[in-house]
Amino acid sequence: MKNGLTGSAAWKSLENHFRAVKDISLRTLFSEDPSRAERFRIQDEGIYFDYSKHRITSETMVLLFALARERGLGKRIAAMFSGEKINITENRAVLHTALRAPKGSTVMVDGHNVVPDVHQVLEKMSRFANSIRRGEWKGFTGKPIKNIVNIGIGGSDLGPVMAYEALKFYSHRDLAFRFVSNIDGNDFSEAVQDLSPEETLFIVSSKTFTTLETMTNARTARKWLLDKLADDKAVARHFVAVSTNEKEVAAFGIDTANMFGFWDWVGGRYSLDSAIGLSTMLAIGPDNFYLLLDGFHQMDEHFRSAPFERNIPVIMGLLGVWYIDFFGFSSQAVLPYENYLKRFPAYLQQLTMESNGKQVTLDGDRVDYNTGAIYWGEPGTNGQHSFYQMIHQGTSIIPCDFIGFRTSLNHLALHQDYLIANMIAQGEALAFGKSANEVKNEGVPGSLVPHKVFEGNRPSSVFFMEKLTPGKLGKLVAMYEHAVYTQGVIWGINPFDQMGVELGKVLAMKIIPELLDRDRPLQHDTSTNELINFYRG
Ligand code: F6P
Repeated sequence: MKNGLTGSAAWKSLENHFRAVKDISLRTLFSEDPSRAERFRIQDEGIYFDYSKHRITSETMVLLFALARERGLGKRIAAMFSGEKINITENRAVLHTALRAPKGSTVMVDGHNVVPDVHQVLEKMSRFANSIRRGEWKGFTGKPIKNIVNIGIGGSDLGPVMAYEALKFYSHRDLAFRFVSNIDGNDFSEAVQDLSPEETLFIVSSKTFTTLETMTNARTARKWLLDKLADDKAVARHFVAVSTNEKEVAAFGIDTANMFGFWDWVGGRYSLDSAIGLSTMLAIGPDNFYLLLDGFHQMDEHFRSAPFERNIPVIMGLLGVWYIDFFGFSSQAVLPYENYLKRFPAYLQQLTMESNGKQVTLDGDRVDYNTGAIYWGEPGTNGQHSFYQMIHQGTSIIPCDFIGFRTSLNHLALHQDYLIANMIAQGEALAFGKSANEVKNEGVPGSLVPHKVFEGNRPSSVFFMEKLTPGKLGKLVAMYEHAVYTQGVIWGINPFDQMGVELGKVLAMKIIPELLDRDRPLQHDTSTNELINFYRG
């Protein structure tokens, strides 16, 4: 029975309930219950969360909350916040919430209050950010820094680039920001091709400071700099590091006085509000960065204290379980109707899929149910002119998260009205569709009717807010972080390790020397041998 999930009373009740409600349409649910929109809505934390267009009844939610209680979600939330080592495969606490804990609060790890450490790093980041932003920090030849290049990958890239794009409106426009992640040399080459080394600062962001992509790009960056400045001492003025690994930072040649630290209890994909956010702070300034942290913290408090029935991340997580495990909908689209959030779906891919893409329980048993969904998306309305066809009429049902704001940061007459009308319309079309009769009544010729039918009954959530601010971004990110944890608890898996990324990395390290030495004998399968031979030429 593995970890008992599928044999539990709550799960059995959900299975029975599923059989009873699975064919009820959203049209029926809405027509039978005029108060549905109000009942399945939460307005808290400045977020209007409408989940009424989901294939749920009140009983569904009661049973999902019962499942959460049976799985001990309340205790598991408390365990995370208290610094218990819930990442059991790595024997680590999981305390991204401590990164945004207000000064003066207490979060203990191994008998030590980590909050003062967090604020010490934030203050060091603030001093550094101010000196760059004011032009006081000079490059090796005495020129102020104009370009910031963040070198990192995974959580050390996706958070920084997403937050930079999301908060560009608030950014210091005299500084140019670039992000290099891919080991593909084209990434680095394009990022620096129009930059002057004398005015460029590299932030090497890597929790471990051993990641192949990041260290390769960092070495290339050092060479690029020294080719022009021709003095090793220049490195100290043009490189800073964000890492947990002081030894490797020093070995690379970066002055550890210019290192911004964090801790093993911050997972890579949960690190954008740690020193990994240095590029974000450089862009938006320390005050805005603190507002971002405050947004995270507000959502942490909501997750920790709101009853499940009013708890946005808990409800999001449970709806995901309902679709993945009962309906078998394995994919989740995230569709921001806010162009500044264009990298948000990519950011969420790592957060959700590296966390919950797991096949064994905490005890190491193979799960006998489905876990994490595939997350993907693009900003609206661009997606409407591409993959929405499939969302509306494809054979796979894809629950959608729509994210929108009432007020645009750049007011241009009618743009926002058109944008938001589209967002609202998409949810309506997905839920209620258009029947064959409705199509016929429009005078469509018979042969075309089936092509123009929208079956509807396709679920979506709307997250509606006033305006994209640093605080709102913090809330949004924390909301998804906690939805991920909610699901991890239900499934009894570890959302905080990522062992599935290892095997490919190890095999690549074996293949590298085989590509470099054409005479080395190959002992892979025939397909792999032939691919290596093709590259060897
Ligand atoms: O690919 C796995 C991973 O460990 C991610 O979890 C992490 O965000 C990324 O690599 C980068 O790691 P680091 O910050 O140590 O360079």
